[in-house]
Amino acid sequence: MVDAENLVKVYSTRAGPRAAVDGISFKVGEGEFFSFLGPNGAGKSTTIGMMVALLAPTAGRIKIDNLDVVRFPHEVRQRIGIIFQDPSLDDRLTAWENLEFHGRLYGISKEVRKKRANFLMEVMGLADRRDDLVRTFSGGMKRRLEIVRGLVHAPRLLILDEPTLGLDPHSRRNVWEYIHTVRKKVQMTVFLTTHYLEEADGSDRVAIINQGQIVAMDTPDRLKKSLGPEVLNLHVSEKGQLKKFLLERYPSLTSSLREEEDGSLSFLFPGEGKSPWEFLKALPFAIREASVRRPNLDDVFIRYTGTGLKSTPNDSRGG
Ligand SMILES: Nc1ncnc2c1ncn2[C@@H]1O[C@H](COP(=O)(O)OP(=O)(O)OP(=O)(O)O)[C@@H](O)[C@H]1O
Ligand SMILES: [Mg+2]
Repeated sequence: MVDAENLVKVYSTRAGPRAAVDGISFKVGEGEFFSFLGPNGAGKSTTIGMMVALLAPTAGRIKIDNLDVVRFPHEVRQRIGIIFQDPSLDDRLTAWENLEFHGRLYGISKEVRKKRANFLMEVMGLADRRDDLVRTFSGGMKRRLEIVRGLVHAPRLLILDEPTLGLDPHSRRNVWEYIHTVRKKVQMTVFLTTHYLEEADGSDRVAIINQGQIVAMDTPDRLKKSLGPEVLNLHVSEKGQLKKFLLERYPSLTSSLREEEDGSLSFLFPGEGKSPWEFLKALPFAIREASVRRPNLDDVFIRYTGTGLKSTPNDSRGG
């Protein structure tokens, strides 16, 4: 459904040209749920801009449904439903009016428009609000309405650019429940960008993007397993000393040792023939609390980029 090869986007900035997307290649199969996981400024929205023919690639090529996006922008847009990162509803209009406007823009007949919009409003739990002004909607409802709008022309590919950014945890869960419900009812490929680990974790495959490059790409499970079996998490008083000791004794920990938000230290268990328990006993430090867990996507992200991603959202910005 999506086929990108050596895609590059260079922006000219005051400081000179800067590659926001720096030679990425990836494929998304029909029906697949694929995510781009990366921090602010990684190049996610820029990639989407090129997928939907809003930005011209500086180099490389991208095809959607076997159509070159640069040569066939109109045909490509017919096949895509997009939820932009920044809200794009007209909130002086009702929900229904927003959908009508979009449907007409795509040249869908009145009957089909009505049928699809009614069906999708029902699926997304908005049926009883169809004649209310969008201005009166909550953030989560607006997002859901944008998804309805993105699907009214029956696209084969749904692109979601950080669909839950700025929503509280409850609304985020709620939006996701609806996304999964609609996916069960409508056959489509989903391309998601996010910087929330839990969201990427639910997809078929994840590409980790950092500074314009894809640094890892696989199923979430295989990415986690590739790190090794266990992560150790330790609470100690002499954190600085323990850190120094571990890095000197096990240089390979440089790529995984990190301080968690609760002040504990975690790192991929180096093994070396010892069990985690033997390893802990041999440490010349008093351990207040220790636990062992399987690697998560955060560990994967750190391993491949050297920096962490926040797993709990606390921002409300756009852009
Ligand atoms: N129009 C532009 N002109 C110059 N630089 C830009 C432009 N748009 C984006 N950039 C830069 O390109 C890089 C990638 O931006 P992009 O918006 O694609 O990142 P992102 O992964 O979507 O980030 P976020 O999670 O914050 O939305 C950033 O450094 C950004 O500042
Ligand atoms: Mg973005």
